[in-house]
Amino acid sequence: MSPNLTHISSDHDLAALDVDAIVIGITAGDKGVELGPGAADIDTALAGKLAETLQHLGATGTPGQVVKLATLGATVAPVIAAVGLGEQAGDATVIRNAAGAAIRALAGTHRVAVALGTGYAALAYAAAEGAALASYDFTSYKSEQARQSASYRAPVSDIVIVNAHDADRAELDRVMISAHAVHQVRDWVNTPPNHLRPDHFAQAAVALATQAGLDIEGLTVEVLDDTELKAQGYGGITAVGSGSDAGPRLVTLRYQPASYQPRDSAATNLPHVALVGKGITFDTGGISIKPAAKMHEMKSDMAGAAAVVAAVVAIAQLRLPVRVTAYVPIAENMPSGSAYRPGDVITLYGGQQVEILNTDAEGRLILGDAIGRACQDQPDYLIETSTLTGGQVIALGHRICGVMGTDKLCERIIDAGKQTGEQMWQMPLAQDVRTGMDSSIADFSQINSSFDRAGHMLQGGLFLAECVTDDIAWAHIDIAGPAYNGDGPHGFTPKGGTGVPVRTLVEVVERIGTAKR
Ligand code: BES
Ligand code: MN
Ligand code: ZN
Repeated sequence: MSPNLTHISSDHDLAALDVDAIVIGITAGDKGVELGPGAADIDTALAGKLAETLQHLGATGTPGQVVKLATLGATVAPVIAAVGLGEQAGDATVIRNAAGAAIRALAGTHRVAVALGTGYAALAYAAAEGAALASYDFTSYKSEQARQSASYRAPVSDIVIVNAHDADRAELDRVMISAHAVHQVRDWVNTPPNHLRPDHFAQAAVALATQAGLDIEGLTVEVLDDTELKAQGYGGITAVGSGSDAGPRLVTLRYQPASYQPRDSAATNLPHVALVGKGITFDTGGISIKPAAKMHEMKSDMAGAAAVVAAVVAIAQLRLPVRVTAYVPIAENMPSGSAYRPGDVITLYGGQQVEILNTDAEGRLILGDAIGRACQDQPDYLIETSTLTGGQVIALGHRICGVMGTDKLCERIIDAGKQTGEQMWQMPLAQDVRTGMDSSIADFSQINSSFDRAGHMLQGGLFLAECVTDDIAWAHIDIAGPAYNGDGPHGFTPKGGTGVPVRTLVEVVERIGTAKR
């Protein structure tokens, strides 16, 4: 459940505000902690001793540090939470994370006012977004008893944004739609793999789209099952899905706003963006089986699929002037007597024949089919995202996505990521790495044909490049690291599924639709 989001003007006396806690910002100044602009009322109520007291409590103003203070009746809110913004007042990314860190630290309280970035509308929305994103917990598989116990601290349910400007309700609604999409992606990623097998996941996507489609015109969804996929020549999805008794699926989710009235009558043809996302509900590696350590994290191997489905629904809810279609291949990669094997040659939907060398490089095979299908519809742009390679994690770590494709679209995605705070870095489609994927018996190999792991992440991108029709602007976003946070929470990001890169997908599609370049 996403929290409720409301706003009040910063003309209110915050000391009199009836909430359970108030979040203020502090910076690390030359002479110690300095108060952010939203803290003035509280400081007055505390006889001008707020900065000094926070310093006694160990506050430094370091980004993300949260120090809580009991006001013992001096303010109506019993608790003040001071969050560090670093040396300067902080940009949108700092504010978003700071609001998130504070809201996580206040889990267990209900209603919290956030007085961060109060002077600037854009920063107040960043605070709203960070707070909404942080108000999340995945409890579907905890007993009612555990959820009712005294030690369980539920996420903050009511967030009041303090803003000097006339906060635009439409902007806050936009924040809620985006937070909702992130929460949906996290829920799907966190769902145990025995509870989210290919058919379940496909049905969950249909249910989400159907529910949203009740209010929105132009949202349609279609599912192909294993029999149809095989009959129609989807050789990649069929091969990867063949080891599991839960057959593969291909979900196609379209948003085509029929009644959109372009302001510029020349612009009757809305741009068409294809989104493709990897939906491996569990990746054992197949016959080329993975080691046991952390294999359970491979329940997150459908994070790309979750992101593109949630993105289309969010785009529809925002009623953006753009056509968007998600092509979502879903399979479970299992070893069994019917599984595909190293040495097999399979035929992708586009007709290319691929020599399989490692059944653990399964993502590119299901994606190759989906990209081939997407290209048949001749989209103007194709954006694919997947937990594709361990090489991405080695090269860029857990917080920076690897982007490959045609330069202009890569740049637009990286630029959109700067606004959303989802970091992206472009990687090259190196020709020598591609040459290493030549096959002696098929059109190309699935990986380097002598098992050389050099340019590991690039091999993934280069494989996908083979499946894209020439002259379509395209990009691949490798989210192997950023999609799942196996460590402790930070900023607005919890442990487990993160929701990356759904906010950037929505942002870049919006920029394409509204030609904000
Ligand atoms: N799903 C994995 C990639 C992955 C690794 C995602 C770590 C998230 C965290 C992918 O299917 C895979 O297994 N890739 C192999 C490819 C190799 C066999 C060529 C890899 O990265 O090792
Ligand atoms: Mn794999
Ligand atoms: Zn995988």
